[in-house]
Amino acid sequence: MNRIRVNLDRRLSASYDIHIGNGILDRMALILAKGNWAARWFVVSDDAVAGLHGGRVLAALAGAGLRAGMLTVPPGEGAKTVSTCLGLAEDLLERDADRASGLIALGGGVIGDVTGFLASIYMRGLPLVQIPTTLLAQVDSSIGGKTGVDTGAGKNLLGTFHQPKAVFIDLAFLETLPQREFTSGLAEIVKYGIIEDPDLLAALEDNAGALQGRNPAVLERVVSSSCRIKKGIVEIDETEKGLRRILNFGHTVGHAVETESGYAVSHGEAVAMGMAAAVVISERLRYLSAEDRDRIESAIERMGLPRRVPRDLDAGGILARMGKDKKKEDGRIHFVLLKKPGMPFVNGGVPLELVRETIEAMQT
Ligand SMILES: NC(=O)c1ccc[n+]([C@@H]2O[C@H](COP(=O)([O-])OP(=O)(O)OC[C@H]3O[C@@H](n4cnc5c(N)ncnc54)[C@H](O)[C@@H]3O)[C@@H](O)[C@H]2O)c1
Repeated sequence: MNRIRVNLDRRLSASYDIHIGNGILDRMALILAKGNWAARWFVVSDDAVAGLHGGRVLAALAGAGLRAGMLTVPPGEGAKTVSTCLGLAEDLLERDADRASGLIALGGGVIGDVTGFLASIYMRGLPLVQIPTTLLAQVDSSIGGKTGVDTGAGKNLLGTFHQPKAVFIDLAFLETLPQREFTSGLAEIVKYGIIEDPDLLAALEDNAGALQGRNPAVLERVVSSSCRIKKGIVEIDETEKGLRRILNFGHTVGHAVETESGYAVSHGEAVAMGMAAAVVISERLRYLSAEDRDRIESAIERMGLPRRVPRDLDAGGILARMGKDKKKEDGRIHFVLLKKPGMPFVNGGVPLELVRETIEAMQT
């Protein structure tokens, strides 16, 4: 089992460990027992994940002598709402959860975000543990303490920062993950390779087949590298004031495509298209060489990810949604562009006309 420490500024939150391995639930329970963070744990999951893995998690916790119960919500983004949080809070109150209780998020990013949000507000804050079960949650959402729920006006508009006590990444969960969800997580890994680690990008190019076949050794290597990159960025910029914004690479166009398609395009697919758009724009503005743009486009494709925007989506609609994105500041859209692999930067004023042209050219 690998261990990566997230060292945070003590004035804001405590540091914590990310544990990564294959079949680590028993060891996880022992670490929780030793950590003594809560007298009683409540595992929050979605019905699908709870059905597949909830029993094993509860058995591992009981095996280490821990008191634990389970709460579930329906699967999917639709459950990422305040009313889900209120329902869970009422459930917790009925079960006498108090400040000596802790929450364990068992699931994908939706469960991590909802449970983290609830943990940050229930009785002014409970200890939180993340057990991410999707590839996206393992390399991204479970690390860094961002929590949130959606409102009718958009995604993640209500939220807090609430760092977990520990993160347990058990790669065995990925065995049951549907292919589309798995590929979606690969997009975030490609993103890390592009923005931060040319060696990781090369490893992805060399091991594309093994990775798509979910080879455990390759997965452990790239998941660990990804977690190290995310934790490094979070350590420098815990509350997303500056550097952490580079993690939005591919997300400006990506979020807009995802919502414009009514979520028919998955998050990872949309981010892949967004990354492809960002490298084309970077080249058009003469920051990135054509050779690097070409290399990145083919890395995206080799991961089984799309880089063309579906023809039936309206470019004007995508642009309008970009304007509504909460990352807009002072009326300008901040775009993460690239000088070369490992060298991203935030550009405050990409002409919208160029974005439109790029999206339209990607649709032919
Ligand atoms: N907090 C952050 O920093 C951060 C970062 C990135 C994304 N996010 C959020 O994460 C969410 C997306 O997360 P996601 O892609 O994990 O989606 P998700 O949580 O909806 O999970 C996707 C689907 O996979 C199923 N599933 C999960 N684990 C499984 C397993 N092991 N086997 C079989 N099925 C399984 C779930 O039931 C669900 O239907 C979005 O809401 C996004 O905003 C948050």
